[in-house]
Amino acid sequence: MSEHLDREARRQGDLWNAAGDDWAELLAPTVSPVWGPLLDLARVTRSSRVLDVGCGSGEVLAQARFRGATVSGLDLASTLLEIAGDRLPDADLRIGDMKDLPFENDAFDAVVYLNSLMFADDPVEALGEAHRVLAPDGRLAVALWAEKDINEFRYVIQTLVSVLPEPPTGDGPFALSEPGVLETVIEDSGFEPVETRRLPAPFTFVDSEHYLRAVLGMAPGQSVLRQVDEEAVTEALLEAGEKFRRDDGSYRFENTFQAVGAIPRDEQ
Ligand SMILES: C[S@@+](CC[C@H](N)C(=O)[O-])C[C@H]1O[C@@H](n2cnc3c(N)ncnc32)[C@H](O)[C@@H]1O
Repeated sequence: MSEHLDREARRQGDLWNAAGDDWAELLAPTVSPVWGPLLDLARVTRSSRVLDVGCGSGEVLAQARFRGATVSGLDLASTLLEIAGDRLPDADLRIGDMKDLPFENDAFDAVVYLNSLMFADDPVEALGEAHRVLAPDGRLAVALWAEKDINEFRYVIQTLVSVLPEPPTGDGPFALSEPGVLETVIEDSGFEPVETRRLPAPFTFVDSEHYLRAVLGMAPGQSVLRQVDEEAVTEALLEAGEKFRRDDGSYRFENTFQAVGAIPRDEQ
């Protein structure tokens, strides 16, 4: 199980586990516009061996499986991996930290990261592992938030941070989002970026209950709930969401993701 993870990795895994069902049911599907393009950038086809790093509850792997690929996934969160395993009984799913991938050299034709690389302590080190496990003619694809200022969901993240007694430093989920940063990390890890796409991914929630459960199903939401009274968090989230509430009581946040496809650089 997760005994081999260090303390911080176990803590992060626990936070993603804490509301794992809500994450899988309510928030993971909001990023669905990115799934297909991410696999296209990684050139995933019927014969591909695919690894999804930070695979969560396995939605991207399910799409790869529909294409006929052989699928493997790695994540810190055992509850999310169990959900992925129910969906994909033939997948090779492992608990681990992306800084140390438990797979052989050259084992994959495609390695993908959706909304996960920015959580690495050292993203260049993490992608160095992707380079190692990727076959020389394989493809890397990484998708994460585009720049913070154009993403309306930032107000939700900022609200979560603002209610904390000691707000963390750094940009959290937006850590690699500013223009050019992701491409530079990819280049510094021994890859050559070949294509970048920008992908609209609006988040919609049918009502306030859906909105609150989805937000609190994320690790940052669970982290706040461990430190701040739930009523205060809920109140702050409802207030921040008011601007995005529509006449029918639903919520809509306009968001954009960026996705970069890359090939391993010939290092000779
Ligand atoms: C925002 S969720 C994205 C999950 C999934 N890729 C998706 O798009 O639905 C981030 C995921 O990254 C995982 N994660 C965070 N840090 C990790 C690390 N160092 N190693 C492996 N997985 C990690 C979390 O457990 C979580 O499942």
